[in-house]
Amino acid sequence: MLHGKHVLLIIAGGIAAFKALDLIRRLRERGVKVTPVMTRAAHEFVTPLSVSALAGRAVFSDLFDLTAEAEMGHIELSRAADLVVVAPATADLMAKMATGQADDLASTLLMATDKRVLIAPAMNVRMWQHPATVRNLAVLHGDGILSVGPDDGTMACGEFGPGRMSEVPDIIAAIAAAFGHGPLAGRHVLVTSGPTHEPIDPVRYIANRSSGAQGTALARALLDLGARVTFVTGPAAVPPPQGADVIRVQTAREMLSAVQGALPADAAVFAAAVADWHVTGASDQKIKKTGDGMPTLTFAENPDILATVSRMTTGRPALVVGFAAETQDVIAHATAKRQRKGCDWIVANDVSPATGIMGGAENAVTIITDDGTEEWPRAPKQAVARDLAAKIAGALG
Ligand code: C5P
Repeated sequence: MLHGKHVLLIIAGGIAAFKALDLIRRLRERGVKVTPVMTRAAHEFVTPLSVSALAGRAVFSDLFDLTAEAEMGHIELSRAADLVVVAPATADLMAKMATGQADDLASTLLMATDKRVLIAPAMNVRMWQHPATVRNLAVLHGDGILSVGPDDGTMACGEFGPGRMSEVPDIIAAIAAAFGHGPLAGRHVLVTSGPTHEPIDPVRYIANRSSGAQGTALARALLDLGARVTFVTGPAAVPPPQGADVIRVQTAREMLSAVQGALPADAAVFAAAVADWHVTGASDQKIKKTGDGMPTLTFAENPDILATVSRMTTGRPALVVGFAAETQDVIAHATAKRQRKGCDWIVANDVSPATGIMGGAENAVTIITDDGTEEWPRAPKQAVARDLAAKIAGALG
């Protein structure tokens, strides 16, 4: 499906540059023409000779390479391709892109192109989490730039966390999705994610420990398979996936109306950790300490979004997936929950503190469907997301 496409591949200077070699090979195997561009720093990590040997074409590095300029100006170079891919995208190159700098060939091409741009960030975890990078990524997403990864894992510097460049198959899936291919092309999938915040007064609220990591990873994996994703999220710790239609909400009641407004969908996945109750008559003034004892909070039940959508008689998504985070008798509780809520699948996991799953990087899930239960081995949340997205694609046919 990628056959005959032309990718301009910009390789920036990071340790993950070695994966760009395999990326070139795998793209060429699929009949993709790859025009490689390397930053100066990239030369420190991989040689232009290896890159050009694999690409079967010369590497472009210099803005003022007169021969190349005579053959093909940088404007033309940036536009001849169907897609621009930056892998690895370093913190430095992302910063340049976000601020519109154009002081070398790579950054100039990125400014001059009229094609879609997909970045595969790779950097140390601290650099990835630095407010400047978070800000730059948000700017790039706002500019319509696509991104894939990074993954969680052990990094070349010995630290652990998000920052590792996505694996080559995932970058290829993202390239396919950028071209509008993938098994979920033309499908609309709704994902809820994150916690909800239920106000007590204007400054206090009831919340839970959900980071939104699993829901975000799932939305990203669905996007990678070509789906259009509506992502309804409570106030999560992780940023929402680029490329999704993001609807931010605070409360369960807001989440329900956002979900209803986003339907119809081919599939809906409810990964949010929705509060079961809200405080009735939340004060619109900050509750003050008084000498009259403690304030009393009274609660009312929140709408069950998953059950509401599962029980829709018209316009129900063909596939409705719920999550069940349990701390004991996981399978029994999750099986009962599937019956009670009326969803098609339940993704069950054990969130006892000892598992480190809630708020952590890994997940171990059991999928409960009409066909029985499937226990999946513990794996990074991105890997679980990829497998679940593939299963959803398989079910939608
Ligand atoms: O909180 P509970 O264990 O019931 O959550 C199970 C599933 O139901 C999850 O998929 C969650 O997103 C969904 N849910 C919901 N609305 C609620 C409570 C839970 O959609 N009010």
